[in-house]
Amino acid sequence: MPAGTAFRLVPTVAATMRCERAEIRVSFPYSPTQAYPATHAHPPAPVTPPSGAQRPRLTFLGTGYLGATYAICFAELGYEVLGVDVDEPRIAKLMAGDVPFHEPGLDELLRRNLAAGRLRFSTDFAEAAEFGDVHFICVGTPQRPDGMSADLSYVETAVTTLVPLLTRKALIVGKSTVPVGTAEWVELLVGKYPKAGELGIEVAWSPEFLQEGYAVEDVLRPNRLVLGVKSAWAHSMLYAAHRGVFDLAMNEDREVPVVVTDFATAELVKAAANAFLATKISFINAMAEVCEASGADVSQVARAIGYDARIGKKFLQAGVGFGGACLPKDIRAFQARAQELGAGEALRFLHEVDLINQRRRARVVQLAAELLGRPYGPAGPDLSGLRIAVLGATFKPNSDDVRDSPALAVARKLARAGAQVAVYDPQGMENAKRELPDLEFAQSLVEAVQGADLVCVLTHWEEFRYADPNALGELVNGRRVIDGRNCLDQPLWTSAGWEYRGMGRPPN
Ligand code: UDX
Repeated sequence: MPAGTAFRLVPTVAATMRCERAEIRVSFPYSPTQAYPATHAHPPAPVTPPSGAQRPRLTFLGTGYLGATYAICFAELGYEVLGVDVDEPRIAKLMAGDVPFHEPGLDELLRRNLAAGRLRFSTDFAEAAEFGDVHFICVGTPQRPDGMSADLSYVETAVTTLVPLLTRKALIVGKSTVPVGTAEWVELLVGKYPKAGELGIEVAWSPEFLQEGYAVEDVLRPNRLVLGVKSAWAHSMLYAAHRGVFDLAMNEDREVPVVVTDFATAELVKAAANAFLATKISFINAMAEVCEASGADVSQVARAIGYDARIGKKFLQAGVGFGGACLPKDIRAFQARAQELGAGEALRFLHEVDLINQRRRARVVQLAAELLGRPYGPAGPDLSGLRIAVLGATFKPNSDDVRDSPALAVARKLARAGAQVAVYDPQGMENAKRELPDLEFAQSLVEAVQGADLVCVLTHWEEFRYADPNALGELVNGRRVIDGRNCLDQPLWTSAGWEYRGMGRPPN
């Protein structure tokens, strides 16, 4: 099949691709005309990158959490990489060897690869166009202020800035989480520039699945790769752009499953994965509500059902619910897109998933009122005159990210109810102060709990999980604790004289 020829995609089949000594499990679409049918277990045909370099040169457009992590990790895999962003201070920071967010292990990789000369950062799209063979779109797709759908303006800007500057064939690959149909739209955007057609610019989609706190590992050692492609050339280039991932896997005697598929499926895989994870968390939080009504213990329910391998024990931690830059906005954008497509009914349950998640935040305020003996009226409780320590500001441990953080949302609710709230977080203080400047922020765990009438543990940092309840008891005004993540050793705290309330667990 000639390079660049689009082929019709039919349902995927699984095959095993033998690559030197490791096996790479591959599923890919095939058709009678495709160059590498399932029965011939070969990687896609090798291609020469348009720049003439041996390995494709990669650019990552957008150096937020996603783009910066990918740029740094792909340089570590041996690629020549350029990270591009319009944010000058961010680019200056990265060039100086400073990761602008907290992600374990990333600083060291950044400095090593800057020093090796494989990695650069720039604000200049012309430089990106000149340099790159494969351009990964890694910009944000936040929730639109006027609704639930995703704001694609950053994707549009990245594409329409880059494409007019291109002077040779290139592959544009979407990594950002987007509504299904975006890749086709990007192709249309590219097609608006007649020169793009002459140069043979192509589009592909390859969603990311990285978890904050484990992002380096998730990029270097992904549990799967999804490649949404329309041509053999795009498949070959995308394969070449991930060859470093396969080589690393081979050296470590691991397999990286690959699903090669069409645009819409590639986009939907990401939306479906996040919807499933959010649903799993809200499921166990719904069980927590029933436990609260019936006197059962959700931690034990989760443990017992998790032994069934079909259910699995991961993502069954009941608590204040999910937050972060992905799950909340992604389930909303997914519903909005399904509605546009006339399939809104199918995702109606995600609305419930969202509501369960929001109710968990309100539940902490109810528990606080109960523990502090304040009635819960129609406008919530009056917590004036009380001091509450909120331990945790980030949406999960090992991150400094406070976007849509349940901990901060609860801190805000408690403050609105009149309490004097002191927040402490090991990594998230700067971001939290920017988000909620009116709250009081303590310098340490000890300072936060000093004189508190109630302590709320809302992010399960190790510093909080393993804090000594006897020592903390000496500092507080009243030994009352809400374990918003069910992460404390309940018998230890109660034996130290604390009134303990977990989420979905019987009191004390
Ligand atoms: C998520 C997905 O896991 C990742 O695959 C995708 O690429 C991006 O979105 P991330 O946002 O980093 O990653 O966080 P994740 O570890 O999934 O946690 C999300 C939220 O759910 C956190 O607030 C976490 O505390 C909460 N959570 C997680 C629970 O409340 N209970 C659980 O059992 C698991």
